[in-house]
Amino acid sequence: MAAKPLFRSLIIISSLVVLVFLFSPSVPSPTTFTSQDSSSSHIWSVRRMTLVFVEIAAALLPAQTSNGYIRVDCYGGLNQMRRDFCDGVGIARLLNATLVLPKFEVAAYWNESRRLILRVSNFSGFADVFDVDYFIHQMKDFVSVVKVLPAELASKEPFRVDCSKRKGHFDYVESILPSLLEHRYISMTPAMSQRRDRYPLYAKAALCQACYSALRLTKSLQEKASELLDAIPKPFMSLHLRFEPDMVAYSQCQYSGLSDTSMEAIEAARGDRKPWTGETARIWRNRGRCPLTPNETAFIFQALSIPTNTNIYLAAGDGLMEMEGLTSIYTNVYTKSELLSDQDFSIMHGNTKAALDYYVSINSDSYIATYFGNMDKMVAAMRAFKGLYKTLFLNRRAFAELTSQGLELEAVVRALWKVHKEDFIMGRGSALPDCFCEYSL
Ligand SMILES: *[C@@H]1O[C@H](CO)[C@@H](O)[C@H](O)[C@H]1NC(C)=O
Ligand SMILES: *[C@@H]1O[C@H](CO)[C@@H](O)[C@H](O)[C@H]1NC(C)=O
Ligand SMILES: *[C@@H]1O[C@H](CO)[C@@H](O)[C@H](O)[C@H]1NC(C)=O
Ligand SMILES: *[C@@H]1O[C@H](CO)[C@@H](O)[C@H](O)[C@H]1NC(C)=O
Repeated sequence: MAAKPLFRSLIIISSLVVLVFLFSPSVPSPTTFTSQDSSSSHIWSVRRMTLVFVEIAAALLPAQTSNGYIRVDCYGGLNQMRRDFCDGVGIARLLNATLVLPKFEVAAYWNESRRLILRVSNFSGFADVFDVDYFIHQMKDFVSVVKVLPAELASKEPFRVDCSKRKGHFDYVESILPSLLEHRYISMTPAMSQRRDRYPLYAKAALCQACYSALRLTKSLQEKASELLDAIPKPFMSLHLRFEPDMVAYSQCQYSGLSDTSMEAIEAARGDRKPWTGETARIWRNRGRCPLTPNETAFIFQALSIPTNTNIYLAAGDGLMEMEGLTSIYTNVYTKSELLSDQDFSIMHGNTKAALDYYVSINSDSYIATYFGNMDKMVAAMRAFKGLYKTLFLNRRAFAELTSQGLELEAVVRALWKVHKEDFIMGRGSALPDCFCEYSL
């Protein structure tokens, strides 16, 4: 095979400008703390500044010759894997490599019952969640993807390139290309440090295409997801609430007023991580490090004048604690396990459940997260991409500071409203900066 340095250097620059003009008659303040349906005074009625998301997609068709094959190995929760995979696509393009299907690991992120883990022990990952053919088709102008390796490589395990030890802003071309050229087939997990920043436009475009336009759920999962979406009363808010024993233990925060059952579950998950005490605990909390309890979440919702009859879909894993703190006030809360049949539910594992939450959350009227994790970043970015602007992250730091000052309840409520209004207006955390330019005019 002659290696012709023939590049089809076709550059398609397309700019999609999504203008979000949001007007509402007034900027209200929450005068009535428990307003039921005063739709003109809740947080979403705030007049948000004009936001312009500009997506620049430049497709440079892959080089005719490939420098080798890359498998992206992804670990963690579904959204972390998805994010790493998007990065990996950019890297593959940067190195003019051909992608093979990535390895997706079963998430140990959510504490699933043993039964479910056994049932999916040979779970392959990517193809269980995403539509492979669609992905390949959507990427065809951006990077080459193969399902099957050429015969001479097919029986080999890829050479593992460890990016995790490389600190700082290392250069992928410098540090990985030699291994790729030598071994022809490598596997890698993108490093946290250097991501995207100095990519040429064609690599960035491949990354953005992979993230926003090439990942679609498998047909069966898609059907399940739209069934779930249909079953939720409209309009609704999707709420990503995190208050599971392991993440609370991990936070090293202390809570008072939790039930004995919750306290035991947290203690059991603690291991060596002892909670902070005294002054350190206070500083830690005021830095916004402590997950909001369902009770605190309900309190902030009320401060934002979110009506207590709002339909709320709980986009969350199993094992949330203290849910009555929320559901005693917000009574229309729906979960997957209630809305899907028992049979459907019991055969699903963490990744497929997370995929459903993602799907519902990018199609809901509004989205609120009590934490700012991988799912929230992915959902917020996708919602921005789709022009859905009602996305908000509760401000744990402001909550901690305001509630520790001994203020009157009314003052706390007013201040919480103000902080969240600012956050909402600024669209804090609303898009992946690499694929969008965001202007607040
Ligand atoms: C990859 O291909 C582009 C042209 O498409 C070229 O400019 C670049 O130098 C190549 N990079 C590598 C690492 O081969
Ligand atoms: C995981 O959940 C099971 C029951 O669902 C429980 O027995 C176990 O202690 C949990 N493990 C952790 C680490 O939370
Ligand atoms: C597990 O692997 C066996 C054979 O290796 C296959 O028949 C079965 O379908 C696989 N199960 C899943 C859930 O992938
Ligand atoms: C929530 O916490 C507040 C303050 O600690 C308390 O007064 C209230 O009773 C709690 N509500 C629920 C439903 O637990």
